[in-house]
Amino acid sequence: MSKALDHIKILDFTHVQSGPTCTQLLAWMGADVIKVERPGVGDATRKQLVDMEGADSLYFTMLNHNKRSLTLNSKTEGGKEVLERLVKTCDVLVENFAPGALDRMGFSWERIQELNPRMIMASVKGFGPGPYEDCKVYENVAQCAGGAASTTGFRDGLPLVTGAQIGDSGTGLHLAFGICSALIHREKTGRGQRVLAPMQDGVLNLCRVKLRDQQRLKAGPLKEYSQYGEGVAFGEATPRAGNDSGGGQPGRILKCKGWETDPDAYTYFITQAAVWEKICDVIGKPEWKEHPDYATPPLRLPHLNEIFGAIEDWTMTKTKYEVMEICNPLDIPVGPILSMKELAEEPSLRATGTIVECEHPERGPYLSVGCPVKLSDNEVVVERSPLLGEHSEEILGEVLGYDAEEIASLKESGAV
Ligand code: COA
Repeated sequence: MSKALDHIKILDFTHVQSGPTCTQLLAWMGADVIKVERPGVGDATRKQLVDMEGADSLYFTMLNHNKRSLTLNSKTEGGKEVLERLVKTCDVLVENFAPGALDRMGFSWERIQELNPRMIMASVKGFGPGPYEDCKVYENVAQCAGGAASTTGFRDGLPLVTGAQIGDSGTGLHLAFGICSALIHREKTGRGQRVLAPMQDGVLNLCRVKLRDQQRLKAGPLKEYSQYGEGVAFGEATPRAGNDSGGGQPGRILKCKGWETDPDAYTYFITQAAVWEKICDVIGKPEWKEHPDYATPPLRLPHLNEIFGAIEDWTMTKTKYEVMEICNPLDIPVGPILSMKELAEEPSLRATGTIVECEHPERGPYLSVGCPVKLSDNEVVVERSPLLGEHSEEILGEVLGYDAEEIASLKESGAV
């Protein structure tokens, strides 16, 4: 099977999570991703959150599949020369260093264009141009600065960060989209370009419904928010809305059988207008179909607490899976709250390659996420992450044309 990006070479100068997420996606689509790492050290995540002494961490192995590792000290003369050759040879340079780090290394955008006008240079930074452009940024800072934290959580609680890594992995996704667009554009123009994905912008892009609500506030209270039914006044900014649905169909997380002891015995339940009558029948409230307080969506909005209370009285008599089995055939949109344990063990996710088991020489078998996007002509075989410098000689020789003597000398000088 051919691969969508098997003609593309990536100089992967990324580390931690955001950049590696991006280059892993490109590698899954078939690109030759050459991960450049500092000799003897490598990507800091190799040795972070270590669960197995002497082995690369799961943090690293799960973000660097299908890549080759080249060790290179880009601050030495020899290292700079190798990097120059890589820039001339590759199609895309991806980096997520702190602002200015690449310039300090001697590889400004101007210099890269001189070396290879077709080069696409793609960067993740915490912020775009503006007052914060020089700041270093990690995941939760991006979630806070991008609007996610202020709109996540309950009204009477602290702002909350989410477990989904929308700042890092989310921005990696955005960057991959930018790179693929620049590659397509290069086919027409022959020119490379800069691609920038600031983490704040990426998080805000994912929080667009909250910016929508910010503007809707001018027209009055947000009637689908629980606080409207509770008679709590709205302030000037989009409030935290707990588990209220972010769309036009009210929804909540409700307890299911076993909730007292199982922290994940819950279901998400959406009172979609189209199936209101079926919901009334399922929960044993057929009289609500025609009731003057419940018959239409606008009538129901001030009564959402009461409505979801009645639905929860019913869901608490069923397991989260029974709720799904009963509601699905009736087209009532519900979904169980699945734990990581349940997802890791779910056979259908293994069957589609969304969760894969890999064999690693230091760790043995481990679970990882597979490619979440499926292409009919681009089957993704998830390969384990590389050991530090595992492919240095192969890349220096086969890709960059160094002979054995030159490689030995680069090694001796500490450049690789
Ligand atoms: N050879 C020689 N030097 C190397 C090297 C190599 N192969 N790889 C990295 N370095 C150097 C860099 O040039 C830099 O040196 P300098 O500070 O003298 O210019 C240094 O290593 C450290 O890089 P830096 O990016 O500053 O790492 P950090 O650990 O201090 O900061 C982040 C980490 C994530 C906070 C920072 O990189 C950042 O803000 N990145 C952009 C936003 C981002 O992606 N954040 C999310 C990460 S998941």
